[in-house]
Amino acid sequence: MKTRIFLLSAMLIAAFAFFAFSVPQDQKKPAPWKIDAKFKAMKNPSAGDAESVKLGKALYAKHCKSCHGNLGLGDGPKSTNLETFPGDFSDAKFQAAYADGELYYMTVNGRDEMPKFDSKIPDEEGRWAVVNYVRSLKK
Ligand code: HEC
Repeated sequence: MKTRIFLLSAMLIAAFAFFAFSVPQDQKKPAPWKIDAKFKAMKNPSAGDAESVKLGKALYAKHCKSCHGNLGLGDGPKSTNLETFPGDFSDAKFQAAYADGELYYMTVNGRDEMPKFDSKIPDEEGRWAVVNYVRSLKK
């Protein structure tokens, strides 16, 4: 009798462990952003500039990588705690979906789990640098 209870408990624990580790975490698909048309029309003063991309890389490593991941796949170490998928910056569909000014808007203002960086990246140069770096992550 005792061995049977023991075996049963062992099986339950094994089953629990199996589900806990094998079921992937469901992340919500983000809802469309509502961004004022004026951002879409905004001109990127440093589009494609190599120095700007370099600065953007450093800012990205400091402020964005923890959630968005090294290559922008949305798989940074903090991403497992996020309810909403942070997006895949390497995806051509993501790259085509937004104008530079819209990436600028999202970076500066954030939304829900996406923090706003208006005070952490206060200068225009740095904000556009991050946008340019995100652009460089396209596969
Ligand atoms: C704490 C985690 C976290 C950090 C840090 C973070 N983000 Fe995000 N980001 C998110 C989440 C979550 C979303 C999805 C939010 C939503 O759509 O509601 C998101 C969405 C985005 C999007 C839109 C993606 C899409 O497909 O619509 C962009 C662009 C973005 N983030 C850029 C940045 C940049 C640039 C930085 C650094 C300056 C940054 N994020 C830092 C969590 C983060």
